[in-house]
Amino acid sequence: MYQMSKKPMIPAREIQARIQTLAKEIAESFEFDIVLSALTGSFMFSTDLVRAMANPSHKIAFIKASSYGSGTESSGKLTVTGLDKLNLKGLRILLVDDILDTGRTMHTLVSMLKEMGVSDLRTCVLLNKEERRTVDYHADFVGFEIANEFVVGYGLDYDDNYRTLPEIWTLEEVQF
Ligand code: IMP
Ligand code: MG
Repeated sequence: MYQMSKKPMIPAREIQARIQTLAKEIAESFEFDIVLSALTGSFMFSTDLVRAMANPSHKIAFIKASSYGSGTESSGKLTVTGLDKLNLKGLRILLVDDILDTGRTMHTLVSMLKEMGVSDLRTCVLLNKEERRTVDYHADFVGFEIANEFVVGYGLDYDDNYRTLPEIWTLEEVQF
């Protein structure tokens, strides 16, 4: 059994403030055509991020990438849907995800996008758990570095719950 921490790990106003500075960092260093958001975890982050950049020529598309069964450990097998329907050839892509954990999701998505012939590609994640990395992969833009704890809220889930909360919480195991 798990329960949410008593206080959020990252309050909503801190997330929103960081998104403003992150949006500036990205806009100043990378010109791109389209934001590619990896659902479901990045649904809140990507929409807040594009609003903070507010560039009329930015396009947005969504793909679904899932590797989790139920639980706090990834199943390891990545299923990607929606990518085959997009024509990204020659485009400059900003790939956005909620969290970089083992790195397998981003690493796989990046290889798939390169194979599709995109012209430039940078990646952006809201959270980075550096300690958990198993593949050599680093995002170009990171919102927050966090410790090795399982987090929920602001798009992130445990068993599909907690996603709609505006702040990030840690999940703690409850012993009976
Ligand atoms: P990776 O492929 O191991 O880097 O994991 C990436 C995916 O695992 C993320 O897009 C999340 O959906 C999920 N994930 C990893 N860590 C957490 C966490 O602490 N809370 C919720 N989901 C997580
Ligand atoms: Mg996810």
